[in-house]
Amino acid sequence: MKHLVAPSLLSADFANLKSEMEMINRSECDWLHIDIMDGVFVPNISFGFPVLKYVAQLCEKPLDVHLMIVQPEKFLNEVKALGAYSMNVHVEACTHLHRVVQQIKEAGMKAGVTLNPATPVSTLADIIEDLDIVMLMAVNPGFGGQKFIPHTLDKVRALRRLIDASRSEALIEVDGGVNHETGRQLIDAGVDVLVAGSAVFRADDPSKEICFLKNL
Ligand code: DX5
Ligand code: ZN
Repeated sequence: MKHLVAPSLLSADFANLKSEMEMINRSECDWLHIDIMDGVFVPNISFGFPVLKYVAQLCEKPLDVHLMIVQPEKFLNEVKALGAYSMNVHVEACTHLHRVVQQIKEAGMKAGVTLNPATPVSTLADIIEDLDIVMLMAVNPGFGGQKFIPHTLDKVRALRRLIDASRSEALIEVDGGVNHETGRQLIDAGVDVLVAGSAVFRADDPSKEICFLKNL
């Protein structure tokens, strides 16, 4: 499968959201990645549902929603109301991960589980067959523009082995510090979905950058 590219809204120009979404719609990207933060699970706050309602209206690409919040299941209905394609929850934020994953799927969305840099891939051994997406953080979540943690490449390879040894068809997604160099390394290691915030939106020509990442 050719890998997918998901630009992250977090690095977009919020004063010009309409034209940013027009660029996204016209571009070769596959999903729009949306980072929701609560100032508790991560030391930052991004945007909430009143703003995302308009993003969802303007964006024609599937929405990949990344919840960096405690008790993400509380907002399942709000994420579903956006028409989200996928809902990604952190394993570190869910005491009853199995239940949350089933709830996401029952709501008609793809179930994604995200791991922080210090959380081992092996923690997913007993749930991997239930997951549609596993997202590995290549930075500590909360901010765009951080440096890629190289150990993520080992985790991608370990996750690929875990998936291949099971009946899982989960996609491997990586979020944080993705650029030309790390993107290429991630593809070689077996990644299916690249999330890129600053690499795309800080580029002189964002749609050209998306095209570049698609053709890595
Ligand atoms: C970080 C977010 C990322 C962020 C990535 O907490 O989850 O999605 O937007 O930004 P870059 O690509 O700039 O590292
Ligand atoms: Zn994210």
